[in-house]
Amino acid sequence: MKKYLFLILLLLSVCAFADDGSRLWLKYDLLSDAQQRETYTKATQFVAANSLHPTIKVAVQELEMGLKGLLGKAPALLQTATTKSGGIILNVAPNSPSNLPLDGFELFSEKGNVVISSKSEAGVLYGVFELLRHLQTGKSLTNLSVKSSPKIKLRMLNHWDNANGTVERGYAGSSMWKWNELPFRIDPRYITYARANASLGINATSINNVNASSRFLTEEYLEKIKAVADVLRPYGIKVFISVNFRSPRTLGGLKTSDPLDPEVRKWWNEKTKDIHRYIPDFGGYLVKANSEGEPGPQDYGRTHADGANMLAEAMRPFSGIVIWRAFVYNADPKGDRFKEGYAQFKPLDGTFDPKVIVQVKNGPIDFMPREPFHPMFGAFPKTTLGIEFQITQEYLGQSTHLTYLAPMFKECLDTDTYAKGKSTTVAKIVDGSAENHLLSLMAGVANTGSDVNWCGHPFNQSNWYAFGRLAWDYTLSSEQIATEWTRMTLTQKPQSMQKITDIMLKSHPIYVSYTYPLGTSHMMGEGHHYGPEPWLTKAARPDWTSIYYHRADSVGLGFDRTGKVSNALQLYSPEVQQLWGNPEKCPLDYLLWFHHVPWTQKLSTGRTLWDELCHRYYDGVGKVVKLQSAWESVKSDIDKETFEDVKGRLKIQEKEALWWRDACVLYFGEFSKLPIPKPLVPPIRTLKDVKKLTEIYHLR
Ligand code: GCU
Repeated sequence: MKKYLFLILLLLSVCAFADDGSRLWLKYDLLSDAQQRETYTKATQFVAANSLHPTIKVAVQELEMGLKGLLGKAPALLQTATTKSGGIILNVAPNSPSNLPLDGFELFSEKGNVVISSKSEAGVLYGVFELLRHLQTGKSLTNLSVKSSPKIKLRMLNHWDNANGTVERGYAGSSMWKWNELPFRIDPRYITYARANASLGINATSINNVNASSRFLTEEYLEKIKAVADVLRPYGIKVFISVNFRSPRTLGGLKTSDPLDPEVRKWWNEKTKDIHRYIPDFGGYLVKANSEGEPGPQDYGRTHADGANMLAEAMRPFSGIVIWRAFVYNADPKGDRFKEGYAQFKPLDGTFDPKVIVQVKNGPIDFMPREPFHPMFGAFPKTTLGIEFQITQEYLGQSTHLTYLAPMFKECLDTDTYAKGKSTTVAKIVDGSAENHLLSLMAGVANTGSDVNWCGHPFNQSNWYAFGRLAWDYTLSSEQIATEWTRMTLTQKPQSMQKITDIMLKSHPIYVSYTYPLGTSHMMGEGHHYGPEPWLTKAARPDWTSIYYHRADSVGLGFDRTGKVSNALQLYSPEVQQLWGNPEKCPLDYLLWFHHVPWTQKLSTGRTLWDELCHRYYDGVGKVVKLQSAWESVKSDIDKETFEDVKGRLKIQEKEALWWRDACVLYFGEFSKLPIPKPLVPPIRTLKDVKKLTEIYHLR
């Protein structure tokens, strides 16, 4: 009978869901190993909690759903403390002597039970997800002893979603927020979204685009945002709003939005109070000001600090904060965009209110596939700097290229700024430990949308996952995160898991190889940022062209940022300057970020710059072909729908990798005047042919 029951359960789990990806990594499909199921079932027969807090309620629900799915048997729910063994005890212990911070948790075995203990309800919820991850990834429950706490306090998604349902740089359909339905209809997806975030420890979300509409501050929209906040609250997630700096004028009817004007300050104070009437635990404001045409304090001759501090003052009676973005740059054809954020903010170090976090993109330009770390990290000891990564793949293959981003996030976080001597990594600046800051923030621009599978490319889910895991603990390895995600999302078969992890780990270097090798940057199609356009010479701003960045000429390629030209290198500590400042020693991955290198210059690989560049483009394309055969080899272990989806996208990736390769080698060949080195076979098409492909995207 038992055997049949198992078969029926197995069949049900296979038939019930052709996998459309909507369940993300929280699939909770029946574990295939019967012995393991039995062992786990014995250890999880009941759940008992010492609190009825809404967060504990959702934690219990999650356990119920998870265990029922994974083991085929839901646990009994006990209301009160129990003397039984063989179950799970959820223990909220605000007065525990443990030195774990509020969100931290412990998972341990005691008197035959699995205990999940934390000072806060949210901590217990995170512990529950950790336990479920243990089961999902087949770890033992005997002698459990896990202690975990987040390295970063604010672990946040930034949605670039607009009121009209579009998503700026979104590649997974339209917005997941249904503003027209809110507050009356709550899309069940909001709950899945909350669960997914809580499973990673993400505890904050800004719900609208940084190019913000003041509409989000109207009473009508505050009611809608309140409804979202109410759904997210039990999952420990606070809501932030991106604000338009001109709101006092557009909404309040004032003549100015000058941050030093008393009426303007009063308006923000009142508005902030208003918001708290709807959302008492409001997270705070996220602001993009005086950037890419957005209004800001500089419109009135004031500084970023004047603007941020005015909002911080409005926030003073409350727990919320102000996140002020450092993504600013002026359109100067002779300048170097690399230095702009630093230059505008440096004089303000030490002048920001303690409630302000300055949010800095990981690199100095704009989420390029590989950037050196932003020179502000390590150079602003008196300002709390948060880091902003882009999870949505604006420049990283959107939803047609398989690009796993954990290695890229980690490359930045692990780089040494030397700000306070050796080992002052970017991560240590961001977590506040290097400079003793109380607040800390890691934000990721979300890649979620209305697509059934949330993120477009099935593998793009892994970037949401990786971001969240690293925001909790940036010391996790890219490999561990990839393996976990694969096992929870795609397959439990060890060999295929291994192969998929391998595909993921190789994917970012491959992408860089056929798009931006050797430290090139910003050569994408104008506006839409899709495909290559290295020949882009004119745009609305000089620093939106490609030639501004690659500086190709008859001598060579790359942006000279040494003392000879822009001297952006000087913004880094002497040790970093030493590492990157010498073209002979600069790691090849960063070479053309800092040096204009002659085409015929021999590199450390033994090849000339031109030959190396061509080899990298060709190598990248060749490896995409290999990714396809690697994917083919896991076919039997992957859900059919997902398998075909990825297979199709890999074919597009190959086509587009070739497009990048041909565009770049043919275009740069016009400058180097050198042939494609043997044994590489020159593209069959001409530069004119490739340019035509790009023109299509500009047709009206
Ligand atoms: C990039 C992106 C914009 C976005 C901006 C930002 O420039 O292309 O769409 O608004 O970053 O981060 O504010």
